[in-house]
Amino acid sequence: MNDFTFFNPVRVLFGSGSFDQIGERVAGIGKHAMLVTGRSAARKSGLLDRATGLLEAAGVDVTVFDRIMPNPTDEIVDEGGEMARREGVDVIVALGGGSSMDAAKGIAIAATHEAPISEFLRVQDKRTPTEATLPIICATTTSGTASEVTPFAVISTVSETMKSAIANDFIYPRVAIIDPELTITCPASVTANTGADVLAHAMEGYFSTAASPLTDLFAERAIYLVGRHLPRAVEACGDLQEREQMSFANLCAGYVLSNCGASVIHALEHPISAHYPEVAHGAGLATMMAKWAELYWEHDPYKFGRIAHLLGRGIPGASVEQSAEFAADAISGLLSRIGLEVSLEDLGVQRSEIERMVDDALSYMGGAVAKTPGDLTRDDLIKLMEASYSSGGS
Ligand SMILES: [Fe+2]
Repeated sequence: MNDFTFFNPVRVLFGSGSFDQIGERVAGIGKHAMLVTGRSAARKSGLLDRATGLLEAAGVDVTVFDRIMPNPTDEIVDEGGEMARREGVDVIVALGGGSSMDAAKGIAIAATHEAPISEFLRVQDKRTPTEATLPIICATTTSGTASEVTPFAVISTVSETMKSAIANDFIYPRVAIIDPELTITCPASVTANTGADVLAHAMEGYFSTAASPLTDLFAERAIYLVGRHLPRAVEACGDLQEREQMSFANLCAGYVLSNCGASVIHALEHPISAHYPEVAHGAGLATMMAKWAELYWEHDPYKFGRIAHLLGRGIPGASVEQSAEFAADAISGLLSRIGLEVSLEDLGVQRSEIERMVDDALSYMGGAVAKTPGDLTRDDLIKLMEASYSSGGS
């Protein structure tokens, strides 16, 4: 067995009702919180009022910043950072999905460093966050990005049409509140998109050159749980038991992501949603996952065979490796059941832009590409995107 390291410093509060602890947890860290959330969902569901009430009851002053959009931009993060600085905020609380959590992490940096957040995202001469970064607490309302347990903040830089990530231990949240009851109000389409993200984190980490026997355990559990529970969570959004299983799948995949990082599918998806901000992260990933398995199953027959088995498409009684070629079908079958058997063309991507997006991926997601087994070349990436372009393949 190879040596490995595993690190995750986030205190996880998992379970229905755990959100009630938000006041005391935030009060243990700061006196003035900025609640970072989206433009309407938390307000409509009453969660924003509930959070404000719990924080104030615990003696914490609250400033609300409710301007986060999907694929959050450097501009909105700088705006939040400026407000946090002006108001004297000393702890950032994210309330929402990946966009709110990633923006909150950016705001925690922007509020405490004399520079626009884009300087922490650019390819060359990138700045590094310091220990001055404000502490962060995340309460997640989706089962998707696992940002609540990772050191990553994905933010789009508008002037450069770039969606890149800050990766730094100072933006690990101090506390992750994972209350499956909060995900009940998540619409079916968002449940499907975020569930596809969970599958991608687990799968990409499973094959990553940074994978370890420990992350493999989490990855296999996450893949199995997504296969078993995501379709039902999409069909019956109010089923708390399915939501709990997806919350746990997301947490497992988060431990994979925080230790292995993402690989080729995320590397290619970031330029897609940078150029097409209306494309949901999970939908962009969904276009390429099955094609990747179809093209690369022979590179690791054991692990692709395991995926086929975990998703219920393994050949009973045969060796694991003999099921490897069915992994692609198993993945596309699952995506089909959640309404996400989509192509790049379906998402409105122009075929003529594939080479440019591959070059972008190599420019600012090159580290993720390098973690993918097989020494993928520029041509390999183009081939994968071409194969994912239309529903019938290339
Ligand atoms: Fe993701």
